Amino acid sequence: MVYQSLYRKFRPRGFAQGFVGQQHIVKALQNSLAANRLAHAYLFAGPRGTGKTTTAKIFAKAANCLSADKPVPEPCNQCELCLQVNSGNAMDVIEMDAATNRGIEEVRDLRERVQYAPVLGRYKIYIIDEVHMLTTEAFNALLKTLEEPPAHVIFILATTEPQRLPATILSRCQRYDFRPLSEEMIAGHLQEVAKQSGVNLDSESARLLAFRAQGGMRDALGMLEQVMAYAGADINRDQVWQVLGSADRASLAQLAEALHARDIGRALHVLEDFGKAGIDFRQLLADMLELLREQLLAVLGAKKGSEAPLSLQSPAEIMTLMETFSSALLDSRRWASPRLAAEIMVIKHCNQQAAPGEPMPEAVPSSAQRDRLVKVDDGKWQEVLDLVKKESITSYAWLKESKAWIEGEKLVIRYPANYNLHCDNIMKPEHKQIIVPVIRQTLGLSQYEASLEK
Ligand SMILES: Nc1ncnc2c1ncn2[C@@H]1O[C@H](COP(=O)(O)OP(=O)(O)OP(=O)(O)O)[C@@H](O)[C@H]1O
Ligand SMILES: [Mg+2]
Ligand SMILES: [Zn+2]
Repeated sequence: MVYQSLYRKFRPRGFAQGFVGQQHIVKALQNSLAANRLAHAYLFAGPRGTGKTTTAKIFAKAANCLSADKPVPEPCNQCELCLQVNSGNAMDVIEMDAATNRGIEEVRDLRERVQYAPVLGRYKIYIIDEVHMLTTEAFNALLKTLEEPPAHVIFILATTEPQRLPATILSRCQRYDFRPLSEEMIAGHLQEVAKQSGVNLDSESARLLAFRAQGGMRDALGMLEQVMAYAGADINRDQVWQVLGSADRASLAQLAEALHARDIGRALHVLEDFGKAGIDFRQLLADMLELLREQLLAVLGAKKGSEAPLSLQSPAEIMTLMETFSSALLDSRRWASPRLAAEIMVIKHCNQQAAPGEPMPEAVPSSAQRDRLVKVDDGKWQEVLDLVKKESITSYAWLKESKAWIEGEKLVIRYPANYNLHCDNIMKPEHKQIIVPVIRQTLGLSQYEASLEK
């Protein structure tokens, strides 16, 4: 048998068959299916791996299912049509990936083909994934079809970047916004999948994976798969840390203890070891925050039955450490090397006195800290410019006169006072399309704005 990755194997086949979350969307869709009142165009927007394509397929089966003489709220997964969709060769449910077929040819072709009646079902359903990738001409062609769709056609457009769709398209679609899935939902689902695969996954490990997945189920399942390959049928927390490429918890604990003791020598030594082991320092800082969070919850008794990972007992001190790590995490984005940020953090922290009666610090990060503007190191900015240059020489030309700052989760690009044209141009979609992936990769940020220096 061909090996199937977990996320494919466990793609839910119905809303009641392992599909988690997005209940606001599921309810609305099921109501309109039951009432047989379907729109001609839907837009499914939201982050990666949260169920857009999955929902589109379930919906397509439910609208066309042959188990009744009208659409049903839940597909039967037994009739010929449902089976065809499940095996990916239904004539009436056509999947297009706009990331690979961006052009006008495909859409023009589509405009001709929508005229033909469905073969087996009630509707011809076009699922267009990553629709924001279509070219302007292709959008215009699609728009013509959306303006006067034949009665038997339904479009489902899916995208992670709805802000890149033209307003003319948006206004013709019934829009559903998919949300990142909560850690609880992902952890629960992972445990269910593990169980069905004959694997033991304790709840701590499941939660750790869920934390790393940041709301996306596909990534969560991908990581679970890696851990399963490594650990076999019994998965524990340490194996998860190992597979995720994080430092092991014992070393992280050492770092926390050294910082707590204000022992610069020992703390730098631990960092040195991390460096030798090839650990990603930005991830290290994030993992440390997660570990401290676990510790805080355990110390405060907020999480019953879980043992505290560290020996630190004072909530105030734990929170001071969290402040330290969260500002190092922020710094790690603007400096050329995250490792440097970690080292400076150690030195700064160890030179601070741990005042025994100090007031409880605010929870991390304080809003003042989050909103402050910090400059991106010139070397780091050059790295961004170089990557942009590789992708597009015009984007690079508009960008290269700028300097950059980080404000919270946003990159702020600044030009000299008379560079209005640069400032306007750099915000255009064709440049955003180039720049956003680069800053996401290098700085961990996914939005930017431009302004002039005063
Ligand atoms: N809500 C969910 N419930 C259960 N499993 C899910 C859910 N969302 C995603 N998955 C899992 O993740 C896989 C990918 O999901 P899907 O293709 O629907 O994501 P998507 O939102 O279309 O992502 P992308 O934007 O990357 O295309 C599915 O095969 C399934 O295993
Ligand atoms: Mg998809
Ligand atoms: Zn069916």
